Amino acid sequence: MTELSQERAPIYEALEKFQKMRIVPFDVPGHKRGRGNPELTALLGETCMQMDVNSMKPLDNLCHPVSVIADAERLAAEAFGAAHAFLMVGGTTSAVQSMVLASVKRGEKIILPRNAHRSVMGALVLCGAVPVYVNPAGDKRLGIPLGMRLSDVRKAIEENPDAKAVFVNNPTYYGICSDLRSIASLAHEHGMLCLADEAHGTHFYFGEGLPVSAMAAGADMAAISMHKSGGSLTQSSLLLTGPAMPAGYVRQIINLTQTTSGSYLLLSSLDISRRNLALRGREAFGKVIEMAGYAREEINRIGGYYAYSRELVNGDSIYDFDVTKLSVHTRDIGLAGIEVYDLLRDEYDIQIEFGDLGNILAYLSIGDRQRELERLVSALSEIRRRFSRDKASLMDYDYIDPVVILSPQEAFYADKESLPLKDTAGRICSEFVMCYPPGIPILTPGEQITGEIIDYIRYAKDKGCSMTGPEDARIERLNVLRGV
Ligand SMILES: Cc1ncc(COP(=O)(O)O)c(C=O)c1O
Repeated sequence: MTELSQERAPIYEALEKFQKMRIVPFDVPGHKRGRGNPELTALLGETCMQMDVNSMKPLDNLCHPVSVIADAERLAAEAFGAAHAFLMVGGTTSAVQSMVLASVKRGEKIILPRNAHRSVMGALVLCGAVPVYVNPAGDKRLGIPLGMRLSDVRKAIEENPDAKAVFVNNPTYYGICSDLRSIASLAHEHGMLCLADEAHGTHFYFGEGLPVSAMAAGADMAAISMHKSGGSLTQSSLLLTGPAMPAGYVRQIINLTQTTSGSYLLLSSLDISRRNLALRGREAFGKVIEMAGYAREEINRIGGYYAYSRELVNGDSIYDFDVTKLSVHTRDIGLAGIEVYDLLRDEYDIQIEFGDLGNILAYLSIGDRQRELERLVSALSEIRRRFSRDKASLMDYDYIDPVVILSPQEAFYADKESLPLKDTAGRICSEFVMCYPPGIPILTPGEQITGEIIDYIRYAKDKGCSMTGPEDARIERLNVLRGV
């Protein structure tokens, strides 16, 4: 192995060397360095097409890395303070699912907050594990789920001593963190693993004054969306593991569902982005924190909006807050978050990350500039002037406690029938229903449907939330268990 330092990008360097070798391709991909698909080459550029190659000896193999990919993983592990890092090309969904599949099997319990991403619930359908939900505390005014209270996690652990793992969002989409250090210690004291979804926390590893990262907090595994705040290409992610996890076994689990044709565009983007974060991350995220602070102040000055931050911290359900997240409560101007989200795009050509019933999230990262933030602030100010209305027309959002009757796997594969949404109250759902983003299920297979849930789905549809999950894409019908 050549000497490795964070200045290096082994996959990218190998690709550059490979280009110079002018090897004749009688292998896949069939576009043959772009020649066979001129339109695509015109769109993506020759460099991109020439780098879209298959695994081969000089470039290593993602399923069983021994050279440049292994080196890149070692560098990533070092940069993130992990025992091992796995490069992932199937999004953070694949990292989350590998984490869960490596921890629990059919019939085993996993403790998790109900506001976990759909990828977690999908993993439960795949492996047959049983969720034990800790209800995240809710903020009544903001209408958002918060973090898990330590006392609630302790109670879940004590009531389910046979559970194998505790799963934590670090942070939530809105930027809220649970007390991950204490949760990890508690899990370990009871012989359980601690898993962290850090889809929205890549920058925690590289910033000053940000919440603790999963690896620093002692978690056993963390799923990291490098393609979100880390700046790599969409769909590229990392799975980090701590010293207690057997890396060979985790690799076997990853290989159960991972492609055998890992994209070198994604792999080299991970390599280059890790180098960038390791060398310049602190400075870059320092600027992001400053910009977010500035935007928050300006938005709060408009009146009506509430751009929240660390003042929410309460030492428990909001143990910490990620100040790079520009989360804004919109209900006091009489508009649902999703309405502001649509207005920003349709009237002001501004695309934000998501809007829910009461909030919007503008995602800030290393590519943002002050001048775009000024545009966002002035658009929000105009929206208030032009479109605000009486907030009485908005529905109050309350956390809906799920009633779990069956495991997600049993319900998903059970004998089922399709019913009009209005006729499903009291029945057991056999599919997912969620607004995307944020992708937090309103219903998960195996849960009882209630009138309150039906009203919520209808309201979210009326407000224009993008809904997904059910077989019926219009969400007018739901699959429920037959005869139950
Ligand atoms: C909390 C959380 N976990 C996991 C994911 C999955 O990430 P990906 O879209 O990269 O598969 C997301 C996506 O937004 C997410 O918000």
